[in-house]
Amino acid sequence: MSKGIFIVGTDTDVGKTVVTAGLMHLLRSKGYPACYFKPVLSGATLKEDTLIPGDTHFVKTIGKLSEPLENMTPYRFRTPVSPHLAAEIENIQIKITTIKENLCKLREKYPYMVIEGAGGLIVPILKNYMLYDLIKELNLPILIVARAGLGTINHTILTVNFAKSLGIEVKGIILNGYDPSNICHPDNKKTIERITNLPIFTIPKLKNVHVEKMEYGNLKEVFEENISIEKIVKWMKTY
Ligand SMILES: Nc1ncnc2c1ncn2[C@@H]1O[C@H](COP(=O)(O)OP(=O)(O)OP(=O)(O)O)[C@@H](O)[C@H]1O
Ligand SMILES: [Mg+2]
Repeated sequence: MSKGIFIVGTDTDVGKTVVTAGLMHLLRSKGYPACYFKPVLSGATLKEDTLIPGDTHFVKTIGKLSEPLENMTPYRFRTPVSPHLAAEIENIQIKITTIKENLCKLREKYPYMVIEGAGGLIVPILKNYMLYDLIKELNLPILIVARAGLGTINHTILTVNFAKSLGIEVKGIILNGYDPSNICHPDNKKTIERITNLPIFTIPKLKNVHVEKMEYGNLKEVFEENISIEKIVKWMKTY
């Protein structure tokens, strides 16, 4: 039996990997045997004939995970576009059964799984199979990572309401890059809290953190200060 949570963004590049890396650090340093899974990654980098999935490498390193990259990310594409298009361009057929089999193997080894999506909820994995279809099939709750600034009320509430309309359980929201002195960030938080009634964590702008460059800056310290990992563990669901 394994517990899991799916990290979903309101968009691409909102900080899902940074947040997942922070959570993985907290989990593993506090003794939770957790592992990461990112089923499909576009924009991998080629190093000596091997495609390195950047997000997976970043989380693996901070979490001191010994699991090979390809077990945590079965589909790796060099083309930085939506998975369905990257697969078509690179002439590879994504099989949902392969994704599920890979995840199943990890679940047998690790009692806690943190799974990162690609982009937002309505991202095609196959032409007619979206990220939300996978989340529904796996029957996992989600944690939404959103930007803190202008535009986030709309993006975040649309994501929450759409997930709920599909029967996906939304556990909470992380507003990333939050600055309390910004004219709109505190109001965005209050407004989203009031309308969705969901718990919201905030993560400030980090220093010297860069996923592609494998730079961790003050990531560990900031997550230790701002996130209650016990709460996130309670949000995980046995599946
Ligand atoms: N709180 C933050 N402070 C400073 N920089 C950040 C913060 N969060 C994310 N970034 C930077 O923004 C970039 C995008 O973040 P990240 O890779 O986590 O996004 P993502 O949602 O996982 O994107 P993708 O959809 O490609 O998986 C990264 O280079 C990261 O270092
Ligand atoms: Mg990412």
